[in-house]
Amino acid sequence: MRVLVLNGVNLNVLGRRDPKLYGGLSIAELESRIYGWARELQLTVQCRQTNDEGEFIKWCHDSYDVVDGMVVNPAAWTHYAWSIHDALEPLTIPIVEVHLSNIDEREEWRRTSVLSDLVAARFIGHGPDGYKLALDYLKENAG
Ligand code: DQA
Repeated sequence: MRVLVLNGVNLNVLGRRDPKLYGGLSIAELESRIYGWARELQLTVQCRQTNDEGEFIKWCHDSYDVVDGMVVNPAAWTHYAWSIHDALEPLTIPIVEVHLSNIDEREEWRRTSVLSDLVAARFIGHGPDGYKLALDYLKENAG
């Protein structure tokens, strides 16, 4: 089963952002944990991160008919980027939304997710383990 994990804007500076919200791992350490979980679950996972919304959208387009499940943390784009909603909308595979922090218990503007009508599951506020929960979910429900 092929799974694409997309991380969005500012997640490359994890490790420098507030550790109380986002934990202390760098993006490289986070991705290495994700690849470890993928091996345990026998999933073929590719992790990507970008600060460029167009690139994020291109990766969504490139995933059509190629992957069996998707894990997305669009970071701040989650709250306003309808372009990302529209790029993900044609996907017929399960999409899982992950946020390190609990966006439902932070500022009001973070409580909106443009993905809410598209996702099969969401794991928020579990830190890095949210990605493990997402992979477990896809192992059970995708492909
Ligand atoms: C985030 C939450 C977003 O509100 C924020 O803009 C991020 C990270 C999270 O993983 O907790 O950059 O997506």
